[in-house]
Amino acid sequence: MTKGWTKSDWRAKPRVQMPDYPDMTALNGVERQLAKYPPLVFAGEARTLKKQLALAAEGKAFVLQGGDCAESFAEFSADNIRDTFRVMLQMAVVLTYGAKVPVVKIGRMAGQFAKPRSAGTEVMGGVELPSYRGDIINGFDFTAADRIPDPSRMLQAYTQSAASLNLLRAFSKGGFADIHRVHSWTLGFAEHDKAERYRELSNRIADALDFMTAAGVNADTAHTLSTVDFYTSHEALLLEYEEALCRIDSLTGQPVAGSGHMIWIGDRTRQPDGAHVEFCRGVLNPIGLKCGPTTTAEDLKVLMAKLNPQNEPGRLTLIARFGAGKVGDHLPRLIKTVQAEGANVLWSCDAMHGNTIKAASGYKTRPFESVLREVREFFAIHKAEGTIPGGVHFEMTGQDVTECTGGLRAVSDENLSDRYHTACDPRLNASQSLELAFLVAEELTARRVENRRMAM
Ligand code: PEP
Ligand code: CO
Repeated sequence: MTKGWTKSDWRAKPRVQMPDYPDMTALNGVERQLAKYPPLVFAGEARTLKKQLALAAEGKAFVLQGGDCAESFAEFSADNIRDTFRVMLQMAVVLTYGAKVPVVKIGRMAGQFAKPRSAGTEVMGGVELPSYRGDIINGFDFTAADRIPDPSRMLQAYTQSAASLNLLRAFSKGGFADIHRVHSWTLGFAEHDKAERYRELSNRIADALDFMTAAGVNADTAHTLSTVDFYTSHEALLLEYEEALCRIDSLTGQPVAGSGHMIWIGDRTRQPDGAHVEFCRGVLNPIGLKCGPTTTAEDLKVLMAKLNPQNEPGRLTLIARFGAGKVGDHLPRLIKTVQAEGANVLWSCDAMHGNTIKAASGYKTRPFESVLREVREFFAIHKAEGTIPGGVHFEMTGQDVTECTGGLRAVSDENLSDRYHTACDPRLNASQSLELAFLVAEELTARRVENRRMAM
């Protein structure tokens, strides 16, 4: 991609949020081993995803990116993967109906293990230990031994990612993703007494599917109704791991991150001259860049030039994460920067990371209302600016957890301790995720109707 770039150039740049491994021999051994392993994704898939993201940037597709804040070794199971995949498919059907464009499905899955932390250490009961940085780096338990960065965890993360991706590929193509099945689960959700608002839309989708079946368009005749394309993504935080899985695409000769289809740069690691930007700029994958309240116009300008020097559509997704009530303070100025540069970007809304609060009980949580409000503000500002809101990004799970408050099966502050399982940030549960999809679909429908009216 970039002339003169090599996959280890990041090592000469300032790095933040990365562990200092005490055992360099062990680290080098793991890196050598991983470098011999097959990549998890094929470069052609990353290129296809890039094309789909380019369509989303033009409003001809819509992106749904979601999954765990941090995948964990302990929670690894077929059921967990299946349930998150299933709710994402349900959301995608609802969003497709609202947007009337294809929904590009990208999991924060099969590789989302490394976490940036706001503090380097954690104090509990008067004891201070290094912070937990994700299962690929150190252990969650609050013991000195667990918190030592252990490079062999990279091998376990690789294995878990490979197994997860294998199952996701099987689910995507093997019959599980049949749209009729997927929607039948949603019809079940819409029967809940408080889901009345969503029942009509849900029934309309069912009618549309029945109509297609009657007209002879069914899973047997149309392969797009029985299978899906599903992509993986994660934050490219642990650069030793990313470098070890970097490969050369045999078709184009370009470097590709083999760890997942899309990788992103987090809000804490987006220094224009830092190690993370240096690594990501050289690989051909679609790249996400988190934009937060501290993202300056000047930095964004430099980052867009570095990460997408050829201004290739679909290459760069700007993932806005300002927090409800703050989108209006920041998004317009960044949209103006993008416009002034004539840059091709896809705008997506991460409605999670600006909305984390501490409940009275001490649990980190996110109110459903704030998540929804941020998405609505994101849509409203794009409408005002005449630009395209191309996707949404959520931390979510298919499990019935109690981590975010609100939603129709209201989770309250007092409920948080019931099933609080996240290894890092609070996730929307299955019901909250699907409900949000319905509410976003309403926004998409309104936008469509408005655009049609303006075109007349
Ligand atoms: C994340 O996506 O899990 C994350 C840490 O986000 P951000 O970098 O935007 O804070
Ligand atoms: Co998170």
